[in-house]
Amino acid sequence: METAYWAALAVIVLMGIGTLATTLRQAGPYGRHMTPGQRFTMKARPAWLLFESPQWFSFALTFWLLAPPAASPSSVMLFVFGLWQCHYVYRGLIYPLRMRDTHRQFPLIAVVMGFLFNLLNGFANAYAVGHAEHLMTAAWFSDPRFVVGLVIAVAGWVVNFQADTILINLRSDGFTGYRIPRGGAFRWVSAANYFGEIVWWCGFGLMVWTPAFAVFVFFTLANLMPRALAHHRWYREHFPDYPKSRRAVIPGLL
Ligand SMILES: NC(=O)c1ccc[n+]([C@@H]2O[C@H](COP(=O)([O-])OP(=O)(O)OC[C@H]3O[C@@H](n4cnc5c(N)ncnc54)[C@H](OP(=O)(O)O)[C@@H]3O)[C@@H](O)[C@H]2O)c1
Repeated sequence: METAYWAALAVIVLMGIGTLATTLRQAGPYGRHMTPGQRFTMKARPAWLLFESPQWFSFALTFWLLAPPAASPSSVMLFVFGLWQCHYVYRGLIYPLRMRDTHRQFPLIAVVMGFLFNLLNGFANAYAVGHAEHLMTAAWFSDPRFVVGLVIAVAGWVVNFQADTILINLRSDGFTGYRIPRGGAFRWVSAANYFGEIVWWCGFGLMVWTPAFAVFVFFTLANLMPRALAHHRWYREHFPDYPKSRRAVIPGLL
């Protein structure tokens, strides 16, 4: 099983490099960047439900059945397991149900790629959490990496949730186009949701401290940074009154 774990990490790294190389040229073709006349699509809501689902079932099956911890899981492992599952109940279930515009389409190829990535990532991270020696005792709860990582993660999650809510509310009156988002971290960046997401996973990675999480953080950056830059360019092209001081994704920097 350890060989499968390292192989999964290698594949995720390759997927991250491939994603970076392609999305720097052309943003992932969904939402505002969807290719006009795109064929082979499905509705966005079931698409999100489908391609995010492996993160919870792959993680849970690996952690409890496929490659469980040698001894019974420690309290730290159970905490990480719970936090991971809570995040994906939000991202894979509650978030799609909160979407307003239910007629939006999503490309099937992105569903397939997202599903495969999430399957591998859920497996690799569950295996890493279940087999990391430093997570086997409750002493890790007081390690500075755990404490600081948890604080950063919670802050990132709050920023991400608030940004998701601001974007969802932009269409609360039935409008189906795009408006300039304001408030929350949108005061500083165009992609406040991605900023929060990146901070959340960086904090989570510090808290868990495994190679699998480092690879996941790399993939998240490779996936979200180019898309945030594309969103930023798109806003500037489409709104002449777009706030000039706003950056793309990292406040004050990028
Ligand atoms: N961990 C990861 O690697 C990862 C990957 C992808 C997404 N996510 C997270 O999943 C969430 C959604 O991601 P996403 O890529 O779909 O984000 P997005 O492109 O910013 O879109 C988010 C939602 O808000 C709508 N929207 C965006 N800007 C709008 C505006 N100016 N006016 C009105 N509506 C607007 C979009 O509609 P349209 O679909 O019609 O554009 C979509 O329903 C985010 O919180 C993100 O962080 C995480």
